[in-house]
Amino acid sequence: MRTVSSKRYLMCRPTYFDVTYSINPWMDPNRPTSADACLSQWKELHDTLAGLGHDVQVVEPRPGLPDMIFAANGAIVVDGKVLVARFRYEQRVDEAAAYLEWFGRGDWSEVRQAAYVNEGEGDFLYVGGEILAGTGFRSDLRAHDEVREFFGRPVVSLNLIDPRFYHLDTALAVLGDRDIMYYPAAFSRDSQAALAERFPDAILADEADAAVFGLNAVSDGRNVVLSRRATGLAAKLKERGYFPVGADLTEPLKAGGSVKCCTLELRG
Ligand code: ARG
Repeated sequence: MRTVSSKRYLMCRPTYFDVTYSINPWMDPNRPTSADACLSQWKELHDTLAGLGHDVQVVEPRPGLPDMIFAANGAIVVDGKVLVARFRYEQRVDEAAAYLEWFGRGDWSEVRQAAYVNEGEGDFLYVGGEILAGTGFRSDLRAHDEVREFFGRPVVSLNLIDPRFYHLDTALAVLGDRDIMYYPAAFSRDSQAALAERFPDAILADEADAAVFGLNAVSDGRNVVLSRRATGLAAKLKERGYFPVGADLTEPLKAGGSVKCCTLELRG
């Protein structure tokens, strides 16, 4: 039986959710969205995480920032230190101010905005004392060095090559202390080799599960909240002693995000 570790998460209510521009291949501004459906899917995710016993906090959404639901992009929080994002695209740049303000009111040992383009936990995932870092579409390679220096933790750079999986957290999920699952074809050959060497026992996702964003998952070490459509992954997780918890996030998926994108982990 795997053990749960109690987590703190930050989420952002999708009050202003919409797809009004396209900065990834999932976003089609001509396809209708429903703010109501999005809100009820978001609430279900919020209540699922809270129901698992985690402390879920919220940051106020701001009008004119329809992607603010994707709280994972707001910052990287490790050891009580906060590196706030610097977004690549102009449409999201102003989200950083909301996170600077929210973290500024909290009890963190240091809060600073990244100097280089850095899309927070979208591209930086903490696992077993080190940080896996994605680049290729969003976060700047120089941000990897900045993260290494700021947190004083080893950083492993990984190259993303498939535009559908433009953030690291769309292609790889941390399950436990030394345990991950990922979709190999989203990474360059070198990065695939680095992952295989570091995580020989990782769960490998197939394309069908990756394409419904099954890897955009949140784990507490035992319960893994992931897209209900990722049925293959759910079965693999069960085999490994995890408890998959299905979530329905078809509205946020229209903007290219699912469970993990909506959830930023706050590590004290
Ligand atoms: N529409 C958003 C963007 O393209 C989606 C962000 C998804 N977030 C994530 N952590 N992968 O920036």
